Amino acid sequence: MAKEINTIGVLTSGGDAPGMNAAIRAVVREAILKGKKVKGIRRGYAGLLQEEIEDMGPRSVSDIIQRGGTILQTARCKEFTTPEGQQRGAEICRKHGIDGIVVIGGDGSFKGAQKLASLGINTIGLPGTIDLDIACTEYTIGFDTALNTAMEAIDKVRDTSTSHERCSVIEVMGRGAGYIALWTGIANGAEDILLPEKYDYSEQRLIKHIIDNRKKGKQHHIIINAEGIGHSMSLAQRIEAATGIETRATILGHMQRGGSPTCKDRVYASMMGAYAVDLLCQGATNRVVGYRHGDFVDFDIDEALAMTKTISEYMYEVGQNLSR
Ligand code: ADP
Ligand code: F6P
Repeated sequence: MAKEINTIGVLTSGGDAPGMNAAIRAVVREAILKGKKVKGIRRGYAGLLQEEIEDMGPRSVSDIIQRGGTILQTARCKEFTTPEGQQRGAEICRKHGIDGIVVIGGDGSFKGAQKLASLGINTIGLPGTIDLDIACTEYTIGFDTALNTAMEAIDKVRDTSTSHERCSVIEVMGRGAGYIALWTGIANGAEDILLPEKYDYSEQRLIKHIIDNRKKGKQHHIIINAEGIGHSMSLAQRIEAATGIETRATILGHMQRGGSPTCKDRVYASMMGAYAVDLLCQGATNRVVGYRHGDFVDFDIDEALAMTKTISEYMYEVGQNLSR
């Protein structure tokens, strides 16, 4: 028989992402609607181990749907990667009456969630990361906002790049994944999009492309460089030396993680938060919520973590074809 859940804990873990607050709000309100108690755990697994746990009610999540960051704050916690830390985490959950927990974070956070589930705490993961690097889902909380933030910033760099007839190397986040780079590359009409999954480090080809474009009358040359490739400053210096075209590097950095979530991030995060509570109420555990082919779905965490995801060849090709 499925275990009945009385108290649901919620935490955010790993890098923050816009829309996490909408997910927290949905977890709290859906759980209360279903007659459950809710406890907010501050600072991810670190806060769990420090017992930074507080009761939450509908008013605890007032006025947050439009706010970036996470009201519960977040952290990376080494201790929780050890069996002793995980055991202690599960015991603390039991001590506070938490029999179900919603973990909002990325793959690393899901590994922690998997451990809590194996120790008897019913656990559901929600994909929260700007990087879109979670294989089981086509959507992650925060990706859409980060993209729009980066896109607007890149438009601004493009204005000044054109005025000065410069080349611009613009580095976007994504850890080892190139999704933000690919999407902004297309959205901003970049002349080159360098992705960790695709780049062959052939600078000769890149330099020839810049020179050829200048001959064709292009007044700027925007290169979107993914964080996973990095070294944008030195790349810009080498380009300037080889082409004679003034080149500047801009690293967008953590601005991409902040700001008010877009409509899509608010709505999808709300749906996922409610979905997680519904799963817990059905007695589910060790599941992660995803979005695929137009629907919210859930997977076993072990299976989700074993999945792989690749950059769409077609999308990459279109990105290259349109920047002529
Ligand atoms: P993300 O969740 O965004 O991928 P991290 O990889 O930094 O971010 O992971 C967030 C936290 O999840 C880590 O600080 C750690 O507390 C926990 N975590 C990561 N890997 C594991 C693991 N193998 N086992 C248990 N907990 C883990
Ligand atoms: O995972 C989100 C992310 O912003 C990555 O794109 C980036 O590599 C990393 O987190 C940066 O982490 P930190 O906040 O520790 O600098």
